[in-house]
Parts: sequence; structure tokens; C-alpha cells
Amino acid sequence: MSERVAKGKSIGLIGVGNIGASILQGLLAADSTRRAIFISDEKQEKLSDFESEQGIEICASNEAVAKKAGILILAVKPNDMQSVVESIAPFMDEETLLISVAAGVPTSVIEAYLGAERKVVRVMPNIGARVGESVTALCGGIYASEADERTVEGILSAIGAVHIVKERDMDVITGLSGSGIAFFAAVIDAMADGGVYAGLPRDLALAISARTAL
Ligand SMILES: NC(=O)c1ccc[n+]([C@@H]2O[C@H](COP(=O)([O-])OP(=O)(O)OC[C@H]3O[C@@H](n4cnc5c(N)ncnc54)[C@H](OP(=O)(O)O)[C@@H]3O)[C@@H](O)[C@H]2O)c1
Repeated sequence: MSERVAKGKSIGLIGVGNIGASILQGLLAADSTRRAIFISDEKQEKLSDFESEQGIEICASNEAVAKKAGILILAVKPNDMQSVVESIAPFMDEETLLISVAAGVPTSVIEAYLGAERKVVRVMPNIGARVGESVTALCGGIYASEADERTVEGILSAIGAVHIVKERDMDVITGLSGSGIAFFAAVIDAMADGGVYAGLPRDLALAISARTAL
């Protein structure tokens, strides 16, 4: 396999926090014949959990990830997006696919940070990703093709259901699924409290109320 083909198929993950780590775990669980995965994070200690995973390479910088991977997943906070995108832009070309998880950051803004015609796909998973039960919406920017959207759909199906949507619907979906999951968590917790009040051990009450919600 040529280096270019290998780079095109490999995945880079920048930001291995709550959602980044969940996506990574999903990718590891889903694909035994998986692509190479390169990861970086401001806090190197967050990466140590993945040190022994086969096929994962821990990189010392975001730029190193961008140099090695053809598909880049950015899972940093919206406020960090501009500096991260601008720092990796020089290492991306017209074939690189950038997947942004940042809530509320439109593809047009990311394209402007990139300063060139680059493929951007914006995605909105939710924290159900931690157990493979995310519902994820995605939409492509102006330089991303339908095939690019399908590629991202395939990758994120590792963490749950995926819907390809129009960008104008992304903010509504962010409220519905990204934030909405917290309401269900509160209900499950309250039901578990009821079980504990009635005499059940907490772990059993929680397991039963959580499963009842599914
Ligand atoms: N959590 C969710 O359920 C959820 C759902 C949908 C979308 N999102 C989106 O996903 C993104 C990440 O959210 P999160 O909850 O996973 O946040 P998080 O836990 O804070 O994860 C972000 C990670 O990126 C690291 N980071 C910060 N600046 C960086 C840089 N310059 N280079 C590399 N890594 C850097 C952070 O390190 P430090 O801790 O040192 O800052 C942290 O480990 C956000 O844009 C959010 O809108 C989150």
C-alpha cells in the first residue's frame, strides 16, 4: 500500500476527552481489521489509557496527527477550534477529511479557519457514545461530497445510529440529542432513588431503572 493510500485511510483524533475517548473506544470495539489511528491531546496523560492498544499511535502534537492521518476527527471544545484548525491546516490537502464534533460551530466557520477548499463534515453525537448508543447527526460543508458524508456515517456507526441531515437542522438536533440525554439521565437517577428509598441496593436500583428506560 502506498503511503498516500495509507494516510487517506487512517484516522487522527485530536482531543481525547469525554466524547473523543468514547468515539475512540467505539472505533476500537467495532473494527478488528481497523485503520491505523493517531491520537493527540493537550494533556498527554489522557492518552496513556490507550498506550497498549494495537493500531493506536500516540502523537506528541496535533500537527503530527495531521501529518499522518487522512481523516481527522476534532473533539476539542468550540473555543479551541480556531487555534487547533489553524495549526493543522498546513498539513491538510484537498483529500483530507476533517470531522468536527464541536457543538455550534458551522462548517463555514471551520472552512474559513482552514483558509482553503477543504472537506469538512460537522457531526453531533451524544454521550450515549460511551456505551455504543449515540444518536449522531452529520452534515457536510460545501467542499465535502455525499461520498464523504457516507464515509463519516460508516465511521460513526461504530458509536450508534447516524443520520445525515441539513446543516440548518444541526442546532436543533444539538438541543434534542446532545443535551436532551441529560434529562433522561435525571429521570433514571430519580427512579433509582425511588428504588433505594423502597429498600433496593443502589447499584441494583440503577441497573433496573436504566434498563427500563431502553
Ligand atoms: N461531551 C459530550 O457529550 C459532547 C457531545 C457532542 C459534542 N461534543 C463536543 O465535543 C467537543 C469536546 O467535548 P468534551 O465534552 O469531550 O470536552 P473535553 O472532555 O474537555 O475534551 C476535550 C479534550 O481536548 C483537549 N484539548 C484542549 N485543547 C486542545 C488542543 N489545543 N489540542 C489537543 N487537545 C486539546 C482537552 O484537554 P484539557 O482538558 O487539558 O483542556 C480535553 O482533553 C466539544 O466541542 C463539544 O461541543 C461533546
